[in-house]
Amino acid sequence: MLLFFDDEQASAERLALEANLDLARIECHRFPDGELKIRLPPTLPKQVVVLRSLHQPNEKLIELLLTCQAARQLGAQHMLLVAPYLAYMRQDMAFVAGEAISQQIMGRFLAQLVDALITVDPHLHRVKSLAQAMPVTHALAISAAPLLSDVIAARRVLPLLIGPDEESRQWVSQAAARHHFEFDVCQKFRLGDHSVQITLPPRAIKGRHVVLVDDVASTGQTLSQAARLLFAAGAETVAVAVTHALFANDAVQKIREAGVQDIWSTDSIPHASNAVSLATSLAEAIALIYEKL
Ligand code: R5P
Repeated sequence: MLLFFDDEQASAERLALEANLDLARIECHRFPDGELKIRLPPTLPKQVVVLRSLHQPNEKLIELLLTCQAARQLGAQHMLLVAPYLAYMRQDMAFVAGEAISQQIMGRFLAQLVDALITVDPHLHRVKSLAQAMPVTHALAISAAPLLSDVIAARRVLPLLIGPDEESRQWVSQAAARHHFEFDVCQKFRLGDHSVQITLPPRAIKGRHVVLVDDVASTGQTLSQAARLLFAAGAETVAVAVTHALFANDAVQKIREAGVQDIWSTDSIPHASNAVSLATSLAEAIALIYEKL
């Protein structure tokens, strides 16, 4: 059975269809003082999948705590969390003494709730495997890079894929390999939440149809600055392909003001830019997890 929250009904329906799972809604009531009440189907099968993409995560983590513990009491023996976007992955070390290492803390929190986890392009930088960050019995990360590559191939001839920073190499190189596109990455220095300095790679950009590929767009600062530099270097067009469309506040506007017309994302986070569904890939990942049980 696949349990879902109201705001993810559309992606839950697509996933249930692909994975051949029964669907059930998690009812969520908010009391006037802000507390939450969760209601699940009164009897659950032994194997339960919960779909929860963890953008804007703070409240969702409490929903998950209540849901997963209630599910166990209602008969679930194996809990699989499908979190297409996994939050708190960026803080994988204390950059300044005293900082919480959010990735480890959230990993342990989720591992207490579920037996297995599937996610998409988690932001793993210094930590090399999802299992290190998420100490569940089965942790599986799939990549949206091939799907984004197919979107690009359908819309651009001989594109040049550019990753806006060294960390994006893992995604941009995969996307490029699938259709034999050329690719390169920029250098990025982050000065603060809303401020980055980017240097383009030393290669000819003039006349090229460039696609910026990254795992996530948040403030849009990274992509808008990279796009401006690419246009200044003579790019004919600059498009954006990201796995996770976080797009906080005026991020899309910022990217458009930099001259980007096309923005493509997966449906890991519901957004107007969604151009590709992850349902088939997630269903295959669910089948892989169940094969191992
Ligand atoms: C960072 O390394 C990520 O891959 C993204 O490039 C970054 O999170 C984007 O953030 P923003 O949109 O706020 O510049």
